[in-house]
Amino acid sequence: ISRSECERRFLKSEAPRILVTAALPYANGKIHLGHLAGAGLPADIYVRFQRSMKRDVVFICGSDEHGVPITITAEQEKTTPQAIVDRNHALNQAAFAKLGVSYDNYSRTSLPLHHETVKEFFLSLYSAGVLKEKQEKQFFDEKANMFLPDRYVEGTCPVCQNPEARGDQCERCGTYLNPVDLIGPRSKITGATPTLRETTHLYFPLGAYQEKLQNYIDQADKRDGWKDNVLQYCGSWFREGLQDRAVTRDLSWGVKVPLKGFEQKVLYVWFDAVLGYISSTKEWSGKIGQPDRWKQYWLDESTKYVAFLGKDNVVFHCIVFPAMLMAWNEHNTARFVLPANVPANEFLNFEGQKFSKSRGWGIDVDDFLDVFPPDTLRYTLTMNLPEYRDADFYWKDFQARTNNELADILGNFVNRTLTFAHGNFGGNVPAAPRIKELFTRGPGSTDESLENEIRSAADAAGALFEQYRFKDGTLTVMNLVRFCNKYFNDLQPWKSLKNDRERCALTINLCLQ
Ligand code: MF3
Ligand code: ZN
Repeated sequence: ISRSECERRFLKSEAPRILVTAALPYANGKIHLGHLAGAGLPADIYVRFQRSMKRDVVFICGSDEHGVPITITAEQEKTTPQAIVDRNHALNQAAFAKLGVSYDNYSRTSLPLHHETVKEFFLSLYSAGVLKEKQEKQFFDEKANMFLPDRYVEGTCPVCQNPEARGDQCERCGTYLNPVDLIGPRSKITGATPTLRETTHLYFPLGAYQEKLQNYIDQADKRDGWKDNVLQYCGSWFREGLQDRAVTRDLSWGVKVPLKGFEQKVLYVWFDAVLGYISSTKEWSGKIGQPDRWKQYWLDESTKYVAFLGKDNVVFHCIVFPAMLMAWNEHNTARFVLPANVPANEFLNFEGQKFSKSRGWGIDVDDFLDVFPPDTLRYTLTMNLPEYRDADFYWKDFQARTNNELADILGNFVNRTLTFAHGNFGGNVPAAPRIKELFTRGPGSTDESLENEIRSAADAAGALFEQYRFKDGTLTVMNLVRFCNKYFNDLQPWKSLKNDRERCALTINLCLQ
């Protein structure tokens, strides 16, 4: 199949440019295999496929450097949040690079460019009157003398009784919480039971956007086929009814609220983090010497924006972020694109249990790559992507996939074909002789069936990648390689080399294709 034929088939009804983002990992620690399986790896496969189709695509990521977990780590290690994020940003950027995840830009949310972008966005919403000031009672730790937002509080989930639910979300059942919803709340800093104190915060009217959000998701789903798991998460939040959310916090680490009377407060980490996609694209524009280039991707409605992430991030990307963008779009002439799809993955577990930094369970990407080459990891993870349900990484499976599939099937086929072409055709692609009678037809190991397999595998894999089905797309490619190995064995080019050189040339030509 020629490249032009390949392009003709896939270039149908498509967007003129594609913006791809992968969730920004917290620079609170090193990325582990679960992070890759959730966002970075499927996003990279999608982007590499689109680039091979010669499409205009930009691939954006970076470190999420604010948020309570980072300040807690800094307190534990008796250092500053900046020191924590400097270290982890460098490590994570290097780990992604070593794995070959081909981001066009990997930014950081502690950059001044990001802070400016977020402040501008916030002030636009504030001056348009979108954000409302409210007094409320919040948990306060008397011993530490500070307010306890979000993950500074832990307690029992009111929905599933998980005793280790966090103040913003229960990891077990996925419920999106407020710290005051927790049963038996306790401070993460001192372990004390917090008291309630009055404080003032600005609220985003999420409830007012419910209908618009439902319409948006319906429409986007009709156009691009959203995944069932994502639609189900969204449906359950809509059924519960969206609540207004505070977008400010009583903390010092984060993007400062640029308003009088709010000097001691920062913006909620999710309010700033999702805008990190925009500031990272701006940074990329500057680096390539086209400072306005980001606007093509974010402000032109013909862009197809695809956001990759794990299931714990769905609410922020399908509800919070689109609502923020809608609010901006209502009050500005430059209008941002909303995600055309959010192909979120479920979780990857490690040998049957959740990855857990505190319990030391799992393996970080950089440690893995100190021992094994990146393709072995990429392949095993791809074949175990948690696309529809949680999946596992098992060492035994890694060994079997690497040895029996990557090496014995793909490696073997590539090796025997290239070795043969080098040894017997001077390292050139032998021309396929134009002799009709030579070309064997019919089912089984014939030239015709191999050509058909190449064509149909390309069609099928391309269509699957377009539908964010990376596991099946890759399986399709591997099945083609299985067929190719059988063809090589059955055609026995080492024999035809001796008595029918044209037959041999045709075989090797097709194998190289
Ligand atoms: N840091 C978050 C996490 O690891 C993801 C942030 S995605 C963003 O779960 F869009 F908000 F940046
Ligand atoms: Zn729960």
